[in-house]
Amino acid sequence: MIDYSSTIDEIYEIILAEENIGKAAWYIPELANVNPDQFGVHLSCLDGQGYGIGDYKTKFSIQSISKVLSLSLAYKMLGDQIWERVGVEPSGNPFNSLIQLETDLGIPRNPLINGGAMVICDLLFSHLQKPIEDYLAFIRSICGNDTINYSAEIAASEKSVGYRNVALCNFIKSFGNIKNDPTAVLDFYFYMCSIEMTCEELSKTFLFLVHDGKMPTTQEEILTPSKSKRINAIMQTCGFYDESGEFSFRVGLPGKSGVGGGILALHPQKYCISVWSPKLNQKGNSYRGMKFLELFTTKTESSIF
Ligand code: DON
Repeated sequence: MIDYSSTIDEIYEIILAEENIGKAAWYIPELANVNPDQFGVHLSCLDGQGYGIGDYKTKFSIQSISKVLSLSLAYKMLGDQIWERVGVEPSGNPFNSLIQLETDLGIPRNPLINGGAMVICDLLFSHLQKPIEDYLAFIRSICGNDTINYSAEIAASEKSVGYRNVALCNFIKSFGNIKNDPTAVLDFYFYMCSIEMTCEELSKTFLFLVHDGKMPTTQEEILTPSKSKRINAIMQTCGFYDESGEFSFRVGLPGKSGVGGGILALHPQKYCISVWSPKLNQKGNSYRGMKFLELFTTKTESSIF
């Protein structure tokens, strides 16, 4: 069994000693109020090893990291038909960009940008009896933790200023690729993004994608191996919006970031690691999170490449 803990301690100290650059999510009032110097890391390994440092037991807003879980649920329930409504190509544009939707006739490039995640919310909205409750129940079941919850305050805070997301959802609706009432889909979307977790909960929740779609504890199948592989492929190519190439180049793992400052990355068959530090770089990805993971895969020689 490889012991990653001393490497994690070492990198944590290196990064803590450096200046913390960037700005916490400026456009969601509740997120702008978070203490920007919090910094946590947690690693969960398939062999049962777990290790955390810093603020790894503090809840934070996982934001877009939630999009991987909503995609997983939609893919599990509906299979390949979801690809008729959303693509699998990196967009090369910011996560909330409207620009490609016009020429792409309302089919978002991938499910991890805002428009794509809204189409996934719309699909779930059509097929779940109680979308908000049922999505939460899905997350609680894979995390094995009933304390996971939405933040109604953060969802409301984002809704109060969510003009761009309102535009995106209505624009996609104009092409017929949102089937339900856009206001209801947006409410679900804002809730979906407002899920709160600690680094420890996050790295444990995503272990099923390290283990070919199965829960490592019970061996219960969340996704088939083929679906699990494809979700990881989409995280690899699209998980960091217009910085996906940079993350792949520097870190070399499938992963997903959120504007709450969290980053989740995983090595199939080995481990899942989460880093949280609210200050974001200009592309909206955690400055310290990117740095930590770059050093981690370099020092442990554990990128997938
Ligand atoms: O919709 C938004 O802008 C946020 N709720 C989520 C953005 C985020 O984390 C990055 N997105 N892909």
